Amino acid sequence: MNNFEYQNPTKIIFGKDTIEKLENEIPQDAKVLLLYGGGSIKKNGIYDQVKTALSKVKVIEFGGIPANPEYAKLMEALQVIKDEDITYLLAVGGGSVIDGTKFLSAAALYEGDTPWDILTQNIRTEKGMPFGTVLTLPATGSEMNSGSVITRAETKEKLAMGGPGLFPKFSILDPQVIISIPERQLANGITDAFTHVLEQYMTYPIGALLQDRFAESILQTLIEVAPKVLADPTDYKAASNFMWSCTMALNGLIQKGVPTDWAVHAMGHELTALFGIDHARTLAVIAPSHYKYNFDTKKEKLAQYAERVWNITEGSIDDKAYAAIDKTEAFFHQLGIATKLSDYTEDYEGTAEEIAKRFKARKWMGLGEHQTLSPDRVEKIVKMTY
Ligand code: NZQ
Ligand code: ZN
Repeated sequence: MNNFEYQNPTKIIFGKDTIEKLENEIPQDAKVLLLYGGGSIKKNGIYDQVKTALSKVKVIEFGGIPANPEYAKLMEALQVIKDEDITYLLAVGGGSVIDGTKFLSAAALYEGDTPWDILTQNIRTEKGMPFGTVLTLPATGSEMNSGSVITRAETKEKLAMGGPGLFPKFSILDPQVIISIPERQLANGITDAFTHVLEQYMTYPIGALLQDRFAESILQTLIEVAPKVLADPTDYKAASNFMWSCTMALNGLIQKGVPTDWAVHAMGHELTALFGIDHARTLAVIAPSHYKYNFDTKKEKLAQYAERVWNITEGSIDDKAYAAIDKTEAFFHQLGIATKLSDYTEDYEGTAEEIAKRFKARKWMGLGEHQTLSPDRVEKIVKMTY
């Protein structure tokens, strides 16, 4: 196992009817900016629960943060923060609203002229404006990590940022919120969380026995609850296990002491930036080809995953490893998620070259756990997804 340091300061308030506890988490003297997305919270009752819990503090609202939070829209919110002397941010939404809020937390205290530089120049946020979250969509893990991904339509870019100052102070996780989530987003959430685990697991063995088993148990739990959540989102047992699995998949714990990959996400973000494909679906497009292309360096972990997660016990390491890739792709299909780029766009020709060109321009010369995935190799993987 590699050496590591681990600190996660986010307080989690988990369970039925926990949104009312918001009242205890926000300082009495705060001036709060309540941030939300396209309005689902106004239809499913979450907005009313939040407003009731906030009745004793000053609140200004900012809605309309789109899926794949858009820089231009967030700059409008930043103006509100400045004009209204906001002191505390509250994200009520999924990964997009939470990530947008993280950007605002950083941008509100940023001293440079152009907050976009935080993303292009990899500026780590050591201290941000304090914020909390009420999670409405289990998927990204953003509710308990310090990362954020922001989109800029003007330049068709989607870039990541983060830093120790961007952990939420608290996150409220009431699994009952999933009742109103459309099936497509539930499937996305399962796929995103599943791939988060794979990115931190599908590398090479390093003797981190407990980390491997944490990762495998999250995968097994997601596989077990996925059909239940899709068939009946009011099934609280399934919903609560789904929600907690998504959080645990990307709160930093399972990546400690082990090598991590994250190339699937790097390539996937480009597909969202270029074509607007849902984040999780881009991962389902890239992952099978990525594992096939990097088969030799990943096959030991692929075979372990085959045995322990999919119960494939017959055959050689290579046989098991191949079967595991097939099982993974079949799992995505079972969720209703297509795994070829051509399923999403007719305009796919040239995509691989464009992504390789962008990675070269950003000097991303070696992605993956061995830092050997060069832009030329990225180009080959993306071509395999057509
Ligand atoms: O905008 P509203 O009206 O709220 O509707 C949303 C949106 O249309 C809807 N929704 C959310 N909760 C709902 C609901 N509809 C009904 N009932 C509810 N309870 O779902 C749609 C999608 O929401 P979004 O927040 O975009 O989804 P998700 O949570 O999957 O977030 C995706 C974003 O997070 C980033 C992705 O790149 C993408 O931009 N990620 C963030 C990560 C992080 N910070 O750690 C890691 C991930 O890998 C990912 O990159
Ligand atoms: Zn993801």
